[in-house]
Amino acid sequence: MQLSVLTNSIMNRRDLLKAASLLPFVGTTPDLVAQTTPAVRTRSVRMAYIGDTHIMPQRKPVNGVAEAFRHLQNQTDKPAFILHGGDVIMDALSRDKSAVQKQWDVWQEVVKAECSLPLEYCIGNHDIWGVADAKADTRYGKAWAMEQFGITKRYRSFDKNGWHFVVLDSVHPKPDGSWYTGIIDDEQLDWLKKDLQQTDPNTPVLVLSHIPILSSTVLVFNDRNPAKHPDTQILGSLLHADSSSLVELLHKFPNVKAALSGHTHLLDRVDYNQVSYFCNGAISGNWWNSDTYHETKAGYALFDLYTDGTIERTYVAFNA
Ligand SMILES: [Fe+2]
Repeated sequence: MQLSVLTNSIMNRRDLLKAASLLPFVGTTPDLVAQTTPAVRTRSVRMAYIGDTHIMPQRKPVNGVAEAFRHLQNQTDKPAFILHGGDVIMDALSRDKSAVQKQWDVWQEVVKAECSLPLEYCIGNHDIWGVADAKADTRYGKAWAMEQFGITKRYRSFDKNGWHFVVLDSVHPKPDGSWYTGIIDDEQLDWLKKDLQQTDPNTPVLVLSHIPILSSTVLVFNDRNPAKHPDTQILGSLLHADSSSLVELLHKFPNVKAALSGHTHLLDRVDYNQVSYFCNGAISGNWWNSDTYHETKAGYALFDLYTDGTIERTYVAFNA
């Protein structure tokens, strides 16, 4: 993943929040529903997805995240809660303790000031603290992010508004120990199988992972110089390396309707068998360097979930 560096001057965080101004939102893109839409159906809930906020204590990301929160909460048809797909902060992996603390602090300040909706988090690769000299620290690895998110399990499920939500922990070391690849570990896989088996088959299921389980965006993520990529390769750091087995598992449960992700900062929808796989852009666009990464503008998504298991997404793009 591309990283930006914390080079700009650091402003007082309250000043940043005060200075947050309206960003021009440029449009919405509703997805067509792949399934045959019944004449009458009942909506279970409208919720929002935000992801890849990559906040850091600088004016642009602070203003951008604040405005995204305001904008989605000012919708006439307001979402009931928010799912965050991970990469909340710019980067914890290679930063020292003080730099990571500043990023978490500014995130919490923006949430406190601007977000009154319930937030459910998924762990992203940039949320994981990984500098070698921090190994003895109790916050090393995923612990600090989990503390910030108020969660005690790195993967979990919960029920809301008649739907079952499964939040996965996608980011793990490669088999050789190097960092990182998109998989779910054996313990998590056992849990996922049991969780799906124990869910009422009439209850629709939505899965959330940071790294996509299935997405066309991984084919266009890299830079556009074909000489650098003579053979198309799909990296396990971009798409779940266990994608095939996860797709097979989800297919065994017809009530699994959707799988949401972020990570690539790109927007797509892949309908494979009965599951719709949505990759949902990024609040930070091109990691705050510009408001567009490849063809996807910065933005957030609104999801309408229905009692019959159908789902619709509206992507709200803005100039980050
Ligand atoms: Fe990201």
